[in-house]
Amino acid sequence: MDACNPCTTTKAESSANVLVVDDEKAICEVIGEALEREGHRVRRTETGAGALAEWQREQFDLVILDIRLPDMSGIEVLRQLRLRSAGAMVPVIIITGHASLASAVEALQMGAIDYLQKPLSMASLAIRAEKALEPTRLRRQNRWVAKQLLSGGLPQGLIGASSAMKRVHEQLAVLARTDTNCVLLTGETGTGKSLVAQLLHRLSARAKGPFVSVNCAAIPDDLFEAEMFGYRQGAFTGADNAHEGCFQQAQGGTLLLDAVGELPLLVQPKLLYAIETKRVRRLGAKQEVAVDARLVAASNRRLSPAEDPGFRSDLFYRLSALTLHLPPLRERREDILPLARHFTERFAGQFDKQLAGLAPQTEALLLGHPWFGNVRELANVVERAVLFEDTSQLTPRHLLLAPAGIAEAPRRACALPWQVSRDQLEGAMTEALGNKTRAAQLLGMSRPTLRKRLRECGWIDDLQQQQAPVRPAMPS
Ligand SMILES: Nc1ncnc2c1ncn2[C@@H]1O[C@H](COP(=O)(O)OP(=O)(O)OP(=O)(O)O)[C@@H](O)[C@H]1O
Ligand SMILES: [Mg+2]
Repeated sequence: MDACNPCTTTKAESSANVLVVDDEKAICEVIGEALEREGHRVRRTETGAGALAEWQREQFDLVILDIRLPDMSGIEVLRQLRLRSAGAMVPVIIITGHASLASAVEALQMGAIDYLQKPLSMASLAIRAEKALEPTRLRRQNRWVAKQLLSGGLPQGLIGASSAMKRVHEQLAVLARTDTNCVLLTGETGTGKSLVAQLLHRLSARAKGPFVSVNCAAIPDDLFEAEMFGYRQGAFTGADNAHEGCFQQAQGGTLLLDAVGELPLLVQPKLLYAIETKRVRRLGAKQEVAVDARLVAASNRRLSPAEDPGFRSDLFYRLSALTLHLPPLRERREDILPLARHFTERFAGQFDKQLAGLAPQTEALLLGHPWFGNVRELANVVERAVLFEDTSQLTPRHLLLAPAGIAEAPRRACALPWQVSRDQLEGAMTEALGNKTRAAQLLGMSRPTLRKRLRECGWIDDLQQQQAPVRPAMPS
């Protein structure tokens, strides 16, 4: 079995413990053998008392129960089993040669999930048994996922056993097994949002589908719609071939929209529509198409419609209904050394070095650093140090730690975006050589908000912002 993929199951994993109760020994045998051929473990008994005794001894995943038994009715056995089940009732399939609507209804009311008449077809029984066992399998699979996550046992998993990261692991396990329309990942740059998005995908039932990642900060405003929703051939000048948008590319899988705060205002209602209706319309197309992609949005700055006029509140509330926050490394210092050891081992393997671990002075330095660049900064520092290390331990000699001020530079933001003065705008635009994404970063605001402020100050006009674009050809 592929250990990374909890969605593939082996025979052993899918095998269940089944109790077969029928007063006719021959029928018990035939059913038992059929289920054993499917890989299940089977206990057989011909009486109600025998069934209750087996139930005391073992845990069963499925009971196949005849209604007419020599010592008590199957309905009575069912009632007793229900009384003795503290948690969820195990699925029970009733079989009988004396079918009557009344006994079927009674059995179903008592909690039986299926009702079969003799003579039985073994093929049909096997199918009904598989169906009955499905919820149990799902529960087991979810427990497996949670266990793997908590033990950090997944390859390329999230390292971190601090209480903050334990909460992240738990939330990740819940989100992975719940197929909600969208999830929002928040946290400073380098805290692991992209990694978590990939894990969410790999641990979910969508793992076999595609994982498509789009960085919203890297797409020019006038190409957004085409990139997200696609276009038909001839939809605009240069659209020589039809193009699938990223939503459709992620069909059956997961779509990561990174830097979602950079989405242009004009596209935001369309994204909301796509999330809510699970439908998109390609540019130039008359018909909408259904898309089944789970959206994972990520942002390394606080999305707050109250403080940021560049982000629509309806989209914000839709995205933020299920939020997973990745805490900065400085708020979970217990994770610094485990992460540093993990990266040392990883890069030592990559560069073919024999390194026994971290020298005590290295540990002290790493623990004392503020890590404004979070795990990414730590990974980069360790990678470089491992590359140049020529002793058997990672010493501080090659540890290049950035002075705190540099990493903090993007934080010198104004209090609120609409309070940015013309001078500040001009200064940021000059420093960023006219690059709006960079200027927005310098000011700690989103690109849509920056554009809005530039427009208010008369630097770009509404026409330029709103004109129907003659779209340049999409990059292939
Ligand atoms: N808990 C972790 N355990 C192991 N590796 C991690 C962990 N968190 C982050 N990393 C690694 O650190 C690097 C940065 O993480 P990632 O790219 O996921 O950050 P991010 O939050 O998406 O940053 P950005 O906001 O800049 O996109 C990646 O190489 C990732 O694999
Ligand atoms: Mg990222």
